[in-house]
Amino acid sequence: MLQQILEIDNIDAYLVIGILLLFGTIETISGFLLSSKRNKHDWIQEIGSFFALSTLIKPAIVATIFFTGSILAPKAASYLTHVNFLIVFLVYLLIDDVLQYWYHRSAHENAFLWKLHRAHHQAEEMGFFVSYRNAALYYLMMPNIWWVGFITFLGGGKAVALGLILKQLVIISSHSTIKWDKPFYQNPVLKPIIRLLERIIITPAFHHAHHGKSKLDSVSDPNGNFGNMFSIWDQLFGTATFTKSYPASYGLQNNTNDKWAEAYLYPIIKSNNEQSELAATFKKVKTSTAEPLYVALEKDTKYLFCQCGLSNTQPFCDGSHHGTKFKPLLFEGKRNGTVKLCNCKLSKVKPYCDNSHLNLP
Ligand code: FES
Repeated sequence: MLQQILEIDNIDAYLVIGILLLFGTIETISGFLLSSKRNKHDWIQEIGSFFALSTLIKPAIVATIFFTGSILAPKAASYLTHVNFLIVFLVYLLIDDVLQYWYHRSAHENAFLWKLHRAHHQAEEMGFFVSYRNAALYYLMMPNIWWVGFITFLGGGKAVALGLILKQLVIISSHSTIKWDKPFYQNPVLKPIIRLLERIIITPAFHHAHHGKSKLDSVSDPNGNFGNMFSIWDQLFGTATFTKSYPASYGLQNNTNDKWAEAYLYPIIKSNNEQSELAATFKKVKTSTAEPLYVALEKDTKYLFCQCGLSNTQPFCDGSHHGTKFKPLLFEGKRNGTVKLCNCKLSKVKPYCDNSHLNLP
């Protein structure tokens, strides 16, 4: 039965559009789309990016692989049609997802890739279409799209179609405002089910935390939860933060509201706003100094300490660490009063100063 369904031409495209329509309908009925604060640049970026990805970028990558493969290794075409479907499906899906995990993680840790992925986090609302907010070049270089083309060329098209349908279902639902996992966390009987599920697939709570603005809400982890379909990679590589709550706010700490053309076509089109990371002249500079800073803190108040040395609000984080491997440190004031905080970023008791700066040359 499944095999017969997968025989239908473009079944994956039809079902992905069906999934989008389903979530779009539910978000509309629930009033979210009508009350959305998205501006025209958000809409153009999200809808335009989805159609360009589906009708231009993916087909172009797959066609390139077929063209190259038919010249270099014509005998390899259809090789996988003789291999067990389940094996092809599992190998395709697991490799696809681990490739995407590392590509996504690199996009948060590498300065250039971050500029291509920044648009995804500029969204200040979640929603099913947020899934497709990225620069065109981000998708062109996405290793798992090339992997899709490669497996399809080898004859694994049906396995790819099934994988794409399941994966898009998880990805779209984890970006949606329809938090299907919420009732599970609230019901003691259902809670064990979601606790098990979140250890396997990406749930809305897990992925919303990745889109949260700052760790200050004790829910968000914009520098973790990089998984797309499976959460196993985050658990394996130490970047998982599980939560049953949702962020207080979404987006970037230092949002420069880049226009859709700048966000989608970077580096061909750059921003005229000198504050934007997408501006030709933009440069992150080290702002930390050797001397500690004396700062008034309040008891039981949460603070985010900058560890990258690039923040413009030292010693606190302003989001400048995106595109580097650094993460801010969340801490609470222990008492009301002035404390000496590290600003050389070398202290062994961060955020507090331990006089490590005195050892600097
Ligand atoms: S600006 Fe966030 S860690 Fe430095």
